[in-house]
Amino acid sequence: MTLIAELFALAALLYFGNRAAPIVWRNIELGRGRISLLGTAIVAGVLVWSMGMASSSLFSPSDEHADHAHDHDHGHEAISTTKLSSQDAAQPEGSDYEWALPQGFPLPRVPADNPMTAAKVELGRYLFYDERLSGNGTQSCGSCHLQSLAFADGHQLPTGSTGEMHMRNSPGLANVAYNATLTWANPILDELEKQIVVPMFGELPIELGITGYEAEVFERLTEDARYQELFPAAFPDDDDPFSIGNTVKALASFIRSMISGNSSYDQYVYAGDKSALSESARRGMNLFLSERFECHHCHGGFNFSGSTVHQNSTFVEKVFQNNGLYNIGSTGAYPQVNPGLHEFTRNEDDMGRFRPPSLRNVELTAPYMHDGSIATLEEVIQHYADGGRFIEDGEHAGDGRQSPYKSGFVPGFEITNQEANDLVNFLKSLTDEQFISDSRYSDPFVD
Ligand code: HEC
Ligand code: HEC
Repeated sequence: MTLIAELFALAALLYFGNRAAPIVWRNIELGRGRISLLGTAIVAGVLVWSMGMASSSLFSPSDEHADHAHDHDHGHEAISTTKLSSQDAAQPEGSDYEWALPQGFPLPRVPADNPMTAAKVELGRYLFYDERLSGNGTQSCGSCHLQSLAFADGHQLPTGSTGEMHMRNSPGLANVAYNATLTWANPILDELEKQIVVPMFGELPIELGITGYEAEVFERLTEDARYQELFPAAFPDDDDPFSIGNTVKALASFIRSMISGNSSYDQYVYAGDKSALSESARRGMNLFLSERFECHHCHGGFNFSGSTVHQNSTFVEKVFQNNGLYNIGSTGAYPQVNPGLHEFTRNEDDMGRFRPPSLRNVELTAPYMHDGSIATLEEVIQHYADGGRFIEDGEHAGDGRQSPYKSGFVPGFEITNQEANDLVNFLKSLTDEQFISDSRYSDPFVD
C-alpha cells in the first residue's frame, strides 16, 4: 500500500516540478519503521490530493481574476464572496467545540474527517509550542509565529531549525480558518490539514525539519507523560493515537480556533461603541472603503482579506493579485525565488500575483508583503499612493508602477499627510489586544 502511495507521490512531484511542490522527496526507502512509513503515506496522500486538485482548479482561477485585475469596469464588484450572516449551520459530526465567534463572523468550514473538539485544540496548542516537534529539537511552530505579534515573527524572513532562511515572510495566524487558500501564493493549499505538513516535513526550505527524523520525533512525544494523556483524549477511537496524521489534525484544530474579532474597529461596528474609534481612524475607514483608494476591493469582508471560506460559502474564489512591487527589467518579472501564483500555473499573467492577506492585526505583523520588503504601514500606504514601487538600481531594478501585470485596482492616488495618517490609524484600529493575550492561544510550557 505504502509503496503505491510513494509512487503516486513521486508522480505528483514530477508533475509539479521541484519548485512547485514544497516537499522534496528524500527518504523513499522502506524499513524506516512504522512512523516513517505513515508519515510518508500522509505526505504522499497530500500530494496525490493536490494532484487531483490541480486538474479541477489550479489553472482556472487566474483567468477569472485577470478580468478583475485588468478590467476596471468590474471595479465596483466586491471581490470577496463573504456572506456575513447565519452562524447556525451544523458542525461536522463528532464536534464538541464551542465557537465563541465575534459578531459578524460566520461559522468556519471544518473538514468532515477532522471535527473540532476541545481535546484536539488543547493537544494542538501543546504541539504548536513544542520544540521537540522539530528534527533537531530547536524550533517549534511558535518560533516563527509569536502570539505577541498576532503570530507573525517580526523578521523580514524567518530562519528554520537548521539555519536555512525562508524566502517568504511569516504571516500572522489570526482567522486562518477563513482563508480560502493558505500561504502567500499557493492555490493548492486550501485546507490546513494539507498546509501544516509543509512546515513539518518541507525541505525547500527546511522549517521544522522532521523529514528523516520521524521516528525520533515521535519517540520524544510518545515518551512524554503529558502526551500520553493528551493524544488518547484527543483521539479516543484510535488504538494507537500517536501518529503524524493525528498530529496534523490537532495542529489544524488549534489554528482554526485562533479567531480574532475584538479590535476597536469591531467594538465600533459590531458592539456599537461609538467611542472605540478616534475621529482620525473613522476618517481612515472611509478612505479605506472609498473608490479613490480601492483598498477594500482586495482586502474586503469581515476579515479584510482577498477571499474567505466558511460554512455557508457557496462559491469560493481564490484571489491572487499583483500590487506592483516589482517590474524587473521592465518585463514585469518578480525576483526568481518569489514569482507568486506563476510558480504554480506557469501562466504569464500570474507573475507577481499573491494572496491579498487579511489586514487584521496588521499593526503587529510588520514587516510587510510576501518578502517582508516594506518596513512600515506608512511606507505601504505610500506604495499604493505611488501606484507601485520604483526600484532605481540593484538586481531588482524596475518600475513596478508600469508593470504589465499590475492590478487595475492599484492605479495610484493623491494623498495628503493627514489622510495617510488617518489611514494608518484605521489600520491600527484592527489590532485585537485580547487576541494577543488570550490564554487559550498562549504557550502552555511557560508557567
Ligand atoms: C521557520 C519559520 C516557520 C516555522 C517553524 C513554522 N512556520 Fe508557519 N509559516 C512560515 C512562513 C514563512 C509561512 C508562509 C509560507 C509561504 O508563503 O510559503 C508560514 C505560513 C503558515 C500558515 C499559513 C497561514 C495563512 O494564512 O495562509 C500556517 C497556518 C502556519 N504557517 C502554521 C504553522 C504551523 C502549525 C507550524 C508548526 C508545525 C509552523 N507554521 C511552523 C514560517 C514558519
Ligand atoms: C489589487 C488588489 C489590492 C489592492 C487594491 C490593495 N491591496 Fe494591499 N495587498 C494586496 C496583495 C496581493 C498584497 C500582498 C502582496 C505581496 O506580498 O506581494 C497586499 C498587501 C498589503 C499589506 C501588507 C500586509 C502584510 O501582512 O504583509 C498591507 C498593509 C496592505 N496591502 C494594505 C492595503 C491598503 C491600505 C490598500 C489601499 C490603499 C491596499 N492594500 C490595496 C492586494 C491589494
